[in-house]
Amino acid sequence: IRNQGVMWVSSSDGRIKGSDWKVTDDASFQSFLSSHGWSDANSTTSGSGTEVQVVQSDDERNEFFFPGFIDSHIHAPQFPNIGLFGSSGLLDWLNEYTFPMEASFGSKSDPENKQTDPKDTPPEGLRVYDEVVARTLAHGTTTASYFATIHVPATNALAKLCQIHGQRAFIGRVCMDNHDQCPSYYVDQSAEEGFNATIRTIDYIQKLDPTGKLINPIVTPRFAPSCSNASLDGLGKLAASYDPPLYIQTHISESTDEVALVQQLFPESSSYADVYDKANLLTNRTILAHGVHLTKDERTLIRERGSKVAHCPASNSALGSGLAPVRILLDDGLDVGLGTDVSGGYSPSILEVCRQACLVSRLLQFSSEYQDMTGNKSTNGTEKLSVEDSLYLATRGGASVVDMPNDIGGFDQGMIWDAQLIELGAVQNSTTSPLDATPVNSIARRGYVDGPGPVGNVDLFGNETWQEQVQKWMWSGDDRNVKFVWVNGVLVHTRE
Ligand code: GUN
Ligand code: FE
Repeated sequence: IRNQGVMWVSSSDGRIKGSDWKVTDDASFQSFLSSHGWSDANSTTSGSGTEVQVVQSDDERNEFFFPGFIDSHIHAPQFPNIGLFGSSGLLDWLNEYTFPMEASFGSKSDPENKQTDPKDTPPEGLRVYDEVVARTLAHGTTTASYFATIHVPATNALAKLCQIHGQRAFIGRVCMDNHDQCPSYYVDQSAEEGFNATIRTIDYIQKLDPTGKLINPIVTPRFAPSCSNASLDGLGKLAASYDPPLYIQTHISESTDEVALVQQLFPESSSYADVYDKANLLTNRTILAHGVHLTKDERTLIRERGSKVAHCPASNSALGSGLAPVRILLDDGLDVGLGTDVSGGYSPSILEVCRQACLVSRLLQFSSEYQDMTGNKSTNGTEKLSVEDSLYLATRGGASVVDMPNDIGGFDQGMIWDAQLIELGAVQNSTTSPLDATPVNSIARRGYVDGPGPVGNVDLFGNETWQEQVQKWMWSGDDRNVKFVWVNGVLVHTRE
């Protein structure tokens, strides 16, 4: 990433370059574009590569298109717990906050969780899931890989809501059948019960979207400690029995306590990654969340299997799990994307996760684990992620993680139009000296209301290059800068 730089496609007349683009055949979108004057434009390149692409107009509000964000790891039912983790570490947090919240998504009228009708979901679950999908779209997340709960009706409802909202999504019913490690109120009674429930959600989702174009099921063993060997083995076989094989997602090496627990629970395995490998769960369609404490051998194994890593720096800092050495993962040839990991992560925004990825990479040099990995040699700061690096992970990196590198994450010719229109605005020049003027209401200045001036939290003073505008957007932007969002060429979110 570092050496390939960034390609900026820009225009002086507010229009995008036609020949590099196969935007969409969708007529309503074409007319939206032309009504905004975006049809034929010039492009300029700075940097020396094509990793992140930006298209801009030069109207007074400074708008540019950016590829939609890909959240490669998020727990939809944990959304109400955002911001609640006290000072607990991963394993205590799961028991204290996470399992009780997830358990509440079960149907009270159906404790055995037999139905497949999403309408049977308790209203609370539906409301939460509706909010998660709307909220992540508003932050520019066009694709999300969701962990749901163990409950079939609620999981199916999440899939249906993604379809209704038009968000590209992978939906996983969580499998957890280890009665020693899971609470009695929230556990699959047996591996077999877990498979049957999982198959019911897979059937439902595949009927919902037979093409798999927008919504896909994903096999989701929660993580090794919560699963029996029978369940891990069975889920590996289940994923492989489909054509094409199903996607798989789980957690790996998030905290050191968890790694120690896995060693204790799976003494026959040589490593955490080996537990999954023995169960055929490491495939080229497997998303491994975190990977903070992976060993060299594990990284090699994961690369050989073609499995991917979802980096979740906001969560890793909030739960005190550690600092993932992303540059080492990339240099070892792994595909890496970003995940909010709500609610280990405290924000549904991938832009926030980009910031945290930058910050964590800058703190790595102070980690003794990292110093051991690099043999205490100077790394000349190569572990630091740039703005372009982290935006790459949020888009093209995520596209590789969900095995769609030629379809989403960029604006190459032929790619699917999953995009966001970002709006920045400049601080207005005035002929009156601020010393003489009545101070402008700060709410209006911040662009909470429509009109000229800054948008959201991003202050521009007019001299910024496009690269600098994008840098300011990454460090200070939020959902107020997201004006429109499209998935599959369909407008799915309009900022109000
Ligand atoms: N490991 C197992 N379950 C979870 C979870 O819900 N969140 C996080 N961050 N890690 C986990
Ligand atoms: Fe997680």
